[in-house]
Parts: sequence; structure tokens; C-alpha cells
Amino acid sequence: MTFAATVLTLYPEMFPGPLGVSLAGRALARGDWSLDTVQIRDFATDKHRTVDDTPAGGGAGMVLKADVLSAAIDHARAQQPDCPVLAMTPRGTPLTQARVRELAAGPGVTVLCGRFEGFDERIFAGRDVEEVSIGDIVLSGGEPAALMLLDACIRLLPGVMGAPSSGSEESFEDGLLEYPHYTRPVEWEGRTIPEVLRSGDHAKIAAWRKHKAEIDTRSRRPDLWERHVGARVPSASGARQETKDQDT
Ligand code: ADE
Repeated sequence: MTFAATVLTLYPEMFPGPLGVSLAGRALARGDWSLDTVQIRDFATDKHRTVDDTPAGGGAGMVLKADVLSAAIDHARAQQPDCPVLAMTPRGTPLTQARVRELAAGPGVTVLCGRFEGFDERIFAGRDVEEVSIGDIVLSGGEPAALMLLDACIRLLPGVMGAPSSGSEESFEDGLLEYPHYTRPVEWEGRTIPEVLRSGDHAKIAAWRKHKAEIDTRSRRPDLWERHVGARVPSASGARQETKDQDT
């Protein structure tokens, strides 16, 4: 089955961009996924093809108009009725690997990219659109965020990734960061590959990797660690939550 990506954008020339090369590019050429871009400006109704207007209440920048956006979304939905519509915005729900997995297992995605100050908020109530952020940073538009979302989905499509295990052992798959990697030379600038990785003892290596994944997650991403521990021991997490609530 082909994963259908539809991108609604004012800059269709940005696609496939980096997704036209390497793994994603070869998958596109093979037909593992398809790409359709929709020029939002084509849905403007005035002679100037206006897509934005000044923010109600004043302030800097311009806002994408709900009437133009809705026409573009309705057009894309008619083409791909089964694909969820995602709007890329820093106000959205942070994207997770779990959500990427769900999307990659589906028929495809329709991705709406904003520019300027963003979208007229009424579009989210007026249409079934999921607002998604790729992190607490502000990009100049949704296009680079859409490329990230699509890249994350495409690499999970059946047959796209070389080694089947490299998808399931990596960061975030069990709520932890991945363990660190090393390769030859054994010694580089006085630093050596950890002894255990050269031992040939697969059980010991697996135990070391699990331990490293845990301690690195705990120190680098306490937020992930909290969730991981909470998910493993629901009652302990519940108890901790109660304590926290009492403290505040
Ligand atoms: N557009 C601008 N910034 C963004 C972000 N952080 N995530 C998704 N879309 C965006």
C-alpha cells in the first residue's frame, strides 16, 4: 500500500526537498509513498489571490485566512478522505514517536503548513484538524516541520528501512533514549570502546546497553524517565503524583 502524503503549502517547491534523496527518495521512486502538493493560494477568491490578512486586535504579522484554508483543506480531503489532516504549528501537541508510528501505519497524512503569524484559529474548530508541533522552537513556516513529520513516517514504512531491528531498538521506542554506539578504531585520541562491547558476550552486552539507555535517559531527559518509570510501575507513579499534588 502506498502511503499518501499531501502537503498544503504556499511553497510547494520546498517538496520533496530532502525527502527526494537517500532512503525517502528511493522509497518515493519505488512508490512506497506518494507526494502531492496543494498550493494554498489557488484557493484565494479575490483577484490579488490574497491568502492572509492583518490580525484582529492588532499586532505584528499576518494571519492565514480561514476561508482560503478551509477551501484548500476541503479539496485535499476530497482527494484523500481517509487521511488525517495535521496542521504544523508551535501551538500544537508535541509530536511523539508513538503518534508517528500510528500515522505511518495508516493510509497517509495531509499536512497543512502555515507561514506568517499562523492560522485563523477558527479553522481548527471548523474542520477536523490536528495541531502538531515538532518542538519548542519557532520556525519561519510549517514546511520544515512537515518535512520532519513525513521523514519520521516514511522511514517506518514496510521495506523502507534496511535492517528491520533498527526501527524497534532506537530512541523512544520503549520510552528511553537509545544506548550509545561505537565503531572501529578501538582506540581514538586515547579513548577506547567500552570493554564489554568487545567481549563477545551477548547477554552482558544487552544488559550494558539497557543500563546505559536507562542512566542516559534519566540524566538527559528526566521527563522521559519519569514517564518510563511511571508506565512500568503504575501504582508507584500514582503515589508519586499524589505526593506532588499535596506539595503544591
Ligand atoms: N511552525 C513554526 N514553528 C513550528 C513548530 N515548532 N512545529 C510545527 N510547526 C511549526
